[in-house]
Amino acid sequence: MSKSKNYKIKVTKNGPYIVSGGLPIAKEIIVADVKGTPIRWDKGESYPAQETYALCRCGKSKNMPFCDGTHAVIKFDGTETADRKNYLDCAEKTEGPDLILTDAEKLCATARFCHRASGTWQLIEKSDNPKLKEIAIQEACDCPGGRLVAWDKSSKKPIEPAFEPSISLIEDPAANASGPIWVKGGVQIESADGFLYEIRNRVTLCRCGKSKNKPFCDGRHITSKFNDGDELLNKKK
Ligand code: FES
Repeated sequence: MSKSKNYKIKVTKNGPYIVSGGLPIAKEIIVADVKGTPIRWDKGESYPAQETYALCRCGKSKNMPFCDGTHAVIKFDGTETADRKNYLDCAEKTEGPDLILTDAEKLCATARFCHRASGTWQLIEKSDNPKLKEIAIQEACDCPGGRLVAWDKSSKKPIEPAFEPSISLIEDPAANASGPIWVKGGVQIESADGFLYEIRNRVTLCRCGKSKNKPFCDGRHITSKFNDGDELLNKKK
């Protein structure tokens, strides 16, 4: 994927993400069915455009989603622990009749779209059924962290949702937790020590401060019940 020219996210040492280039930012909500299984994304409120802004990475700001300097007070350890391999170098493959699925489990943001209809892996294995193939593609495309990618088996091309460069702040009312920063559309992310992470169409960055795969989300916002103050979560208290 080609790099979007002026957009960039810089991870700062034990501090926030500095976003530059005027990336649009809004909330995005996981909508679940009656059983609590996620089925679609809904747009939430958007924030006024800013050329540059600092997003909280420690999970403790009183001015969410923006940084208010609390990371320094709490001595936040934001050490980046993610390995620096490209996605395909750590992804496992499931091969079905019409589709292939690649899966890099460490990038799981626990959004759970892959749980529907017996799960993406099983659907891939039955992808010669047009209906099941369609659901498998939808589930893979809904995976915010890009853990799952569906590939067309005959063209050997990935099937990706069309995203404009932007940031979504995930809210997950069914899990009663706020989620990660969903970076869409191929934005360059640079580590605190200047490493350029692979540019991808879908990536989730930790904003609860608890991930063991920093700067990426590893789903720990759910077990830690991260709450950025969103009213959807407060209603459930
Ligand atoms: S936001 Fe998911 S682990 Fe921190």
